[in-house]
Amino acid sequence: MAIVIPHHIAIVMDGNGRWATKRFLPRVAGHKKGVDALRACVRHCGEIGVKVLTVFAFSSENWNRPAEEVSGLMDLLAMALGREVPALQAEGVSIRFIGNRSALSEKVRAGLESAEAMTATNTKLIFNVCFNYGGRWDIAQAAAKLAAQGEPITEATLDRAMALAHVPDPDLLIRTGGEQRISNFLLWQAAYSELYFTGKLWPDFDEAALDEAIADYSGRERRFGRTSEQLAPPPRKAA
Ligand code: IPE
Ligand code: IPE
Ligand code: MG
Repeated sequence: MAIVIPHHIAIVMDGNGRWATKRFLPRVAGHKKGVDALRACVRHCGEIGVKVLTVFAFSSENWNRPAEEVSGLMDLLAMALGREVPALQAEGVSIRFIGNRSALSEKVRAGLESAEAMTATNTKLIFNVCFNYGGRWDIAQAAAKLAAQGEPITEATLDRAMALAHVPDPDLLIRTGGEQRISNFLLWQAAYSELYFTGKLWPDFDEAALDEAIADYSGRERRFGRTSEQLAPPPRKAA
């Protein structure tokens, strides 16, 4: 079977807390390990020719976690921003933050903006980090934007107003950590994504695990509502 590299991969990076708890470590230690896994994943995507990677790093519902964990995650974001940008730059990665920034601290917001500006012209891989993101928030903000501009609300106008309008929809959506749910991730954009669930916890999700997900994806038949027969190449005429 030929390996088909998805143009756009989206990932719900779940299982950091359980990874840490299993080792009697604080949950934040799992999130730190998760950053290491993400760094390797970004690099691997660039190497194998994935063009867009979109990850779920903090959901609009994650504010409901204990204050200590929420502030740990904010600190980790600030730290990662300070540390990782030169490597992204060297690898030709353009980073974009997707989500509601208004609830984030001034310092974090400034960090996001400078990381985006510094990597804006890179073209090897577009790396979308969904932070304080919710799929419902995205649909609502897109509709509100169109309404404010007096634009009609159609599938096409909504699509263009959505936070991920700069990239095509994800081809493959991976969720680690064993849960089989969307958790308010890309509700609009995942309409035709191939779903892949693995019990592997995010900090353990390495290059080989990504290759395995891509191999699984390669065997899928994407019909987009058509029949299998319609997709098959037309029979060759006899000579
Ligand atoms: C995902 O890992 C990362 C975030 C939600 C920020 P979790 O922290 O949800 O890990 P588990 O699901 O508790 O193991
Ligand atoms: C989804 O994971 C959000 C992120 C990975 C950032 P959660 O761990 O928050 O999802 P639920 O609450 O188990 O559905
Ligand atoms: Mg979780």
